[in-house]
Amino acid sequence: MFKDSPILVGLEIGTSKICAAIGEENERGEFTLLGIGQSKSHGVRKGEIVDLAKAQEDVRSALGNAEEQAQVTVRNLFLGVSGRHIEGFNNTGMHPVASDDRLVTPQDVADAANNAKAITLPAEHTILHTIRQRICVDGVEVSDNPAGMLGRKVEAHVHVIYGNSLRIQNSMRLVQSLSIEVNQPVFNGLANAQAVLTPEDKENGALVIDIGGGATEFVFQQGQAIRHSGVFALGGDHLSNDIALGLKINIALAESLKIRHGSAVVAAGSQGQMVPLSENDLGLSHREVSLEHLHRIMSIRLQELFELIAERCAENCLLDEARAGVFLSGGCSHIPGIDTLAQRIFRLPITRGTSRNITGNSATLSHPEFATAIGIARYGGMRQRNRPRPRFSIRDVLPFLR
Ligand SMILES: Nc1ncnc2c1ncn2[C@@H]1O[C@H](COP(=O)(O)OP(=O)(O)O)[C@@H](O)[C@H]1O
Ligand SMILES: [Mg+2]
Repeated sequence: MFKDSPILVGLEIGTSKICAAIGEENERGEFTLLGIGQSKSHGVRKGEIVDLAKAQEDVRSALGNAEEQAQVTVRNLFLGVSGRHIEGFNNTGMHPVASDDRLVTPQDVADAANNAKAITLPAEHTILHTIRQRICVDGVEVSDNPAGMLGRKVEAHVHVIYGNSLRIQNSMRLVQSLSIEVNQPVFNGLANAQAVLTPEDKENGALVIDIGGGATEFVFQQGQAIRHSGVFALGGDHLSNDIALGLKINIALAESLKIRHGSAVVAAGSQGQMVPLSENDLGLSHREVSLEHLHRIMSIRLQELFELIAERCAENCLLDEARAGVFLSGGCSHIPGIDTLAQRIFRLPITRGTSRNITGNSATLSHPEFATAIGIARYGGMRQRNRPRPRFSIRDVLPFLR
């Protein structure tokens, strides 16, 4: 497989698992998933690598599984990145219309967009993505290409996503150490939106929230524009921690209780119900814990997380514009009642996000924890489709080669 091959590979280095997705796109941009490989993650905390050797072993294993399924050899991939160091914000760049006759040119638009990228970042931070939101001429929103219109000033509104360059490089170097090239690092949140939203959802405006083991990413997408994005270093591991502390049990037992009896809302009928901790769990048979207490602990933490995201979106009145509602992905979207809790906080329709507009093994596509890796591969496809064409075609160059 060479760099321009239509095979697309997305890799998520998550806190709970490493996941590699391999797919291909046809000329109409339709994506088929060919293979998915995963491995338990041992070297990542809160979405960031903390043990390179362990993470490298897990990545090798996940990629090996995916390669075997897809029957390809991976030489390059798109790499998902997450972690608290990643931030998203909106910025505006301005440029006066240069020509005397006030005719807007493509160069004016490009200059305004470049000015929007000219920002001072904290030390050792780098821009991951600059996504165009809208273009205005003299304060009026116009099409993406206003060349030929008359005006005095062009404004480009963009969403900038940036992160700590050293931490991003840590993930990239890990992949490169396996002799695999990284085409581009991709913020996981963007990838989630690529996987779970249909073009109609994007047009209508949607908030996508992926709750993993150690981090939660959110993205608000409207049309092709990202209106808001961010990461909270909070996830399913924190729920297990809270349960362990609250019920005075060890983490492994808390994790197992969360999966077997967990709920994001205090379930009707849970009052007074006790869950016995089986001999397998503790080696003790006489202990039991309150189901209501378990649900309440989970509900408090998840409510806090949703409120943090709702607050961020409220800053720009975005929730009023989420006509497609909220999409939940990541392992924690399995938690019973999570849609009810999200509905209470966001007051919007809630969809549990499975990967859509994709062909392949439907059982695999329905797993919300695979959405990120699949979305990274899809994002890669979109990038390659939109890559600027070379200014000279091979036909132009041929005479000089003879
Ligand atoms: N059925 C379930 N009920 C509750 N929590 C779950 C369930 N399935 C997975 N999880 C939780 O989801 C988290 C892992 O989500 P995932 O998206 O795979 O993580 P990451 O991408 O961070 O590696 C873990 O905290 C795990 O306990
Ligand atoms: Mg994840």
